[in-house]
Amino acid sequence: METLNVQLAERTYPIHIGQGLLERADLMTFALRQRRVAVVTNDVVAPLYLRRFTDSLDAAGITSVKIILPDGEGNKNWQTLNRIFDELLTQHCERSTALVALGGGVTGDMAGFAAACYQRGMPFIQVPTTLLAQVDSSVGGKTAINHPRGKNMIGAFYQPSLVLADTDTLKTLPDRELRSGLAEIVKYGLIRDLPFLEWLEAHLERLLRREPDALEYAIYRSCSNKAEIVGADERETGERALLNLGHTFAHAIETGAGYGVWLHGEAVSAGCLMAAELSCRMGLMSADDAQRIEALFSRAGTPVLGPKELPPERYLDLMRNDKKVENGKIRLVLLKKPGDAFVCDYAPPSEIAQAIASRTGGAFPAVPEAPDSR
Ligand code: NAD
Ligand code: GLY
Repeated sequence: METLNVQLAERTYPIHIGQGLLERADLMTFALRQRRVAVVTNDVVAPLYLRRFTDSLDAAGITSVKIILPDGEGNKNWQTLNRIFDELLTQHCERSTALVALGGGVTGDMAGFAAACYQRGMPFIQVPTTLLAQVDSSVGGKTAINHPRGKNMIGAFYQPSLVLADTDTLKTLPDRELRSGLAEIVKYGLIRDLPFLEWLEAHLERLLRREPDALEYAIYRSCSNKAEIVGADERETGERALLNLGHTFAHAIETGAGYGVWLHGEAVSAGCLMAAELSCRMGLMSADDAQRIEALFSRAGTPVLGPKELPPERYLDLMRNDKKVENGKIRLVLLKKPGDAFVCDYAPPSEIAQAIASRTGGAFPAVPEAPDSR
């Protein structure tokens, strides 16, 4: 097991990464104020892992309330959030009962928001089971639900007190979900970690084959990048915005296409390439660098074009609701080169629209199968 910390003074918390951690509920006890927790999961993850996890809780002397939500990005909304509150109240959960999210980013984001709100805040623990959640969403305290007009528009910053990432759970992850997680991993290389990007270029197929040591390294390196950024800028007043490379485009794709049609990482992949295209058009980055980035996403098998159904004007409309907009100005993360990103508030809308147009035309699903060596 590898451990690193998100340094936030008295709210500093550990991220444990390794195999067999679902069986290590004992690692949670330091974060508990009572020996009863509520576990939020969904109807896909529950049959796979809930029993294993609650057996481990039992063995550590911790009882659990189980809250099983319907799966899917399309259910990341008020109605589902309210089911968590209903269950917490019905089961007489208290302010000091910890809420544990067992699942992917959708579960983690919703459970985290519920934990931030229930009785004005209860302890929260992340047990991420997708690659995307292990490298990104479980770390850093962003919690949210979607609004029909915008992705992750309603939420709160609320840090977990522990992240327990069991890499064994990735064995059951569908290929498409694995690739979606890879897109967020590539993002760290692009924004600030060129040596990691080079490592990914050299070892991507090992990740696609789910080699445990390669996955563990990529998760650790991603989390250490994220932990550093969050430790320096928890509330995204500066550097943390870089983690949104491609996301302004991506959120427009996810909202515009309908939640769940494009996976988050798929939209991030197309979005990063739109950001790269715009960076080239504005003379900030070379075309060779943009091609290098496209080559890596292609190998990861994530989309290199946005959906053909979504015109640039619709993106721009949706992008005006982005959380980085300030005084009506769209702010985008652009690239000077791979490993060097910055926040740009001067991209002309006409250039943004052209960059989108030249990166549009993708059909979905269009993802090739992973190399068949598992
Ligand atoms: P997800 O939670 O929908 O999980 C993907 C699918 O895999 C689901 O069907 C899920 O039930 C299933 N699943 C989960 N674990 C599994 C396992 N071990 N084996 C088999 N199936 C499994 O999606 P995701 O990609 O994990 O997360 C995407 C969400 O995360 C989006 O809503 C996005 O906005 C959010 N996000 C949040 C942050 C943040 O900082 N809070 C960062 C990135 C993304
Ligand atoms: N995923 C972006 C962030 O956590 O800031």
